[in-house]
Amino acid sequence: MTHLAAAPSPSVRVRAPGKVNLSLRVGAVQEDGYHPLSTIFQAVALYEEVTATQVSEGAGVTITVDGPQADLVPLDATNLAWRAAEALAARVGTPPDVALHLAKGVPVAGGMAGGSADAAATLVACDALWQTGLSRDELASLAADLGSDVPFALLGHTAVGTGRGHLLTPAMTRGEFHWVFAAQAEGLSTPAVYGRFDELTAGSESADDPGLTEDTGLMQALRAGDAHALGRALHNDLEPAALSLRPGLERTIVVAREAGALGAFVSGSGPTVAALARSRQHALAIAASWTAEGAADSVWCTSGPAHGARLLP
Ligand code: C5P
Repeated sequence: MTHLAAAPSPSVRVRAPGKVNLSLRVGAVQEDGYHPLSTIFQAVALYEEVTATQVSEGAGVTITVDGPQADLVPLDATNLAWRAAEALAARVGTPPDVALHLAKGVPVAGGMAGGSADAAATLVACDALWQTGLSRDELASLAADLGSDVPFALLGHTAVGTGRGHLLTPAMTRGEFHWVFAAQAEGLSTPAVYGRFDELTAGSESADDPGLTEDTGLMQALRAGDAHALGRALHNDLEPAALSLRPGLERTIVVAREAGALGAFVSGSGPTVAALARSRQHALAIAASWTAEGAADSVWCTSGPAHGARLLP
């Protein structure tokens, strides 16, 4: 008798990075509820890894998750990865039958776009699994419909973002920058932070089109690979809103500065605090200060820029 081993289901693995906004300039809320942005993204080497496995017809999308804070991640259609698989399937007329496994390497709901990285990785994984033949631009357009930060997770490295943050132009950088992140167990909702931003800026003149003119120094620092100058130029218009929702983060920033961080600020909509270090050794020292002072629920040392969503062998 001959035993035929069942062929393994086809499976694809993709990595996509988290990000920090080196500069985040926010304009006045528009009629569609979004704020025009001028931002400079940098991808960091904290990755989400998505494994997409073909399943039998009619099974639909399923999600499993592991990694720190996995219990905070929804397993249903509210997960951006789920929506990414369905959007791609609908775009190419394929049934959305796929099992997605997300290995979380970016703090959850931390202002580092981990959910967006899951969506970007899912697009690239399902694109390969279903051999859709879509171009990178077509994937980027699907990505933009899923969320403002998803196109950058596809692209990676360092880029200027305008519009909702989804219109990207790559930026030139030299060398490697050392980052350390202080994450909190309880995340912040992005719409809530933008809502507080609206309250705090009500009555003041907030631009319809926040320019990047003030970021010339930052762009020069990136091109020169000058971490000290970059540290001085870091900027986040959402920081006052995040701090007003989480006043304890001020101390996290102060502890990093006392440990010699070249710059320390809220990452994106928070509550993660990012600190720029002189070296990997220095990043570890800042992390140790945060831990010793109880100023973070978890600490993550890494570097940037990092690559965008990419298939793993
Ligand atoms: O695009 P995304 O779904 O990631 O945005 C989440 C929420 O963040 C939006 O619903 C909106 O409240 C807020 N947002 C914004 N302006 C942006 C990006 C996001 O107001 N440019």
